[in-house]
Amino acid sequence: MYNTTKKLKGTVKLKGDKSISHRLLMIASLINDKSTIKNLSTCEDVITTMECLRQCNIAINETMYETSIKGGTLASPDDVLDCKNSGTTARMMIGLLAGQKISSSFKGDSSLMQRPMKRIIEPLTAMLIKVKHNNNLLPISIDPNSVQPIDYNSYTNSAQVKSSLMFAALGTNKYSNIAYNKSTRDHTEKILHYLNFDISINDKIKIRKSTVNKGFLIEIPGDISNASFLIGACLIIPGSKITVKDVLYNKTRFGFIDVLLKMGANIKIINKNTKNNPELYCDIIVEYTSDLKGVDIKGNEVIRMIDEIPILSIVATQANGQTVLMDATELKYKESNRLSLIYRNLKLMGANIKEEKDGLIINGNKKLYYTTTNHGNDHRIAMSFEVLHLLINNKMDNVYHDVIKISFPEFYELIEGLIQ
Ligand code: S3P
Repeated sequence: MYNTTKKLKGTVKLKGDKSISHRLLMIASLINDKSTIKNLSTCEDVITTMECLRQCNIAINETMYETSIKGGTLASPDDVLDCKNSGTTARMMIGLLAGQKISSSFKGDSSLMQRPMKRIIEPLTAMLIKVKHNNNLLPISIDPNSVQPIDYNSYTNSAQVKSSLMFAALGTNKYSNIAYNKSTRDHTEKILHYLNFDISINDKIKIRKSTVNKGFLIEIPGDISNASFLIGACLIIPGSKITVKDVLYNKTRFGFIDVLLKMGANIKIINKNTKNNPELYCDIIVEYTSDLKGVDIKGNEVIRMIDEIPILSIVATQANGQTVLMDATELKYKESNRLSLIYRNLKLMGANIKEEKDGLIINGNKKLYYTTTNHGNDHRIAMSFEVLHLLINNKMDNVYHDVIKISFPEFYELIEGLIQ
């Protein structure tokens, strides 16, 4: 259908997973010792977390090979903490500092200032933490003199909320019990358990104040969410075949791969292994697949691929038949209203797409035409449409670096390196 002369071929290794990077930095700040992280993400969001921690009196040193953090010295920052575009930084740092009884204030960029914070404000207030807020939005200030345990029964669908509450619960000797949806990413609890914090993980997470005085050395597996853009590109560009090496293997993050397999994608997962690490690694081999089929995506599947819906939508435009996405209202509250931007951009390009109250219906295999992207300053929207540009326009626009570096600064360089 398209005159794509380029294909993707080769092997890539990615910088460390963004979600795990945030968490390891924050957890290291609690440990009264030096910890070392290898393969930390280089993205803007993680730099933001580092800057916030530095403002809270944590020494972080970076070399070419590793990042070292001297924890146990958290203190009230002199200035408001600017979480920029990073919801993970804001929601998790608020819980972290509340648990350590550190007064602090938080703001963000124009996107983050509009994102919902009630989800953490309500339970933190129930823990008797004083939270001042702007109508449930940032700016937020906390003044935590003491922290009470919580019995949180809302089975949250958000890993950020779950993590924020776990961090806050580290501020009290009595156990908190946090109910959560098991499809939410589980890195915080996995890492805390691995490092011998006082936590048990069942239907609820039971957690309380813990004294951990031994630093860690952990290498972070490659970012599976970033891998999804390369995998998506490879699946829709004829003649492509790539291997993504040493990437995170975690079932709470594998919704995208599982849905692609249901669509008939030619994907193999090999070399699953743990390298003395709370998380598993694997290699993913992907090959262009001409006969992808549309699928239904709903419920917990959406949670396990919450950040991969934009690139999945692009893949769905190239599949035979209909892809129906349901239960995806949460996508309206990400860095942009992702449902609406996916719809508007694809519609302009000529796609047969419908926007529903909680999802999208995409009828695949219709010829699409190039338009520039209205990315709404959302990194994942910009990257998804760059992948589609490569297919239908034989090249990417190559001008969205400033947006894309929020999560994947190596995006253009890696794709250019794979093009043949
Ligand atoms: C994240 C959790 C998800 C995800 C975000 C990163 C995390 O958000 O969309 O990009 O690192 O915990 P929610 O917890 O709001 O679902």
